[in-house]
Amino acid sequence: MARFFVANDHAGLGLKAPVVQHLLANQHEVIDLGTNTTASCDYPEFARQVAAKVSAGEGLGILICGTGQGMAMAANRVPGVRAAVCADTFSAAATRLHNDANVLCLGERVVGVGLALAIVDAFVNARFEGGRHARRIALFDPPREQH
Ligand code: RB5
Repeated sequence: MARFFVANDHAGLGLKAPVVQHLLANQHEVIDLGTNTTASCDYPEFARQVAAKVSAGEGLGILICGTGQGMAMAANRVPGVRAAVCADTFSAAATRLHNDANVLCLGERVVGVGLALAIVDAFVNARFEGGRHARRIALFDPPREQH
């Protein structure tokens, strides 16, 4: 069981309900950070809210927009966040196993509900393998030179 912070923009609203229901049905905790209307909104604001929670170590994140792409770009600007756009189950598992991804980004205009739920399952059920992969993700943010 894990805690998920979930958010979306207007283009991702339709996919959120089945994703949230699926997580709850599998005994996960879900915190919905919006948006919950179809009014046009700016996805970086929602990405930042989820990213802040994930960066603070409070749980994993799921971000949904039209493509997943903008959400991932915005979320990845927050230190400690490793957000991955996934449109297939292999990538969803692999990005947990090798990249220790902590935010899954989905595109409602890209994947149907059935595939999205399978992607969520693949992401949730895979565990980071550590070892050489830990060394590599540590290189995402190399220490700054001291002067
Ligand atoms: C909104 O039209 C769309 O640009 C947004 O949902 C997302 O796909 C951006 O990456």
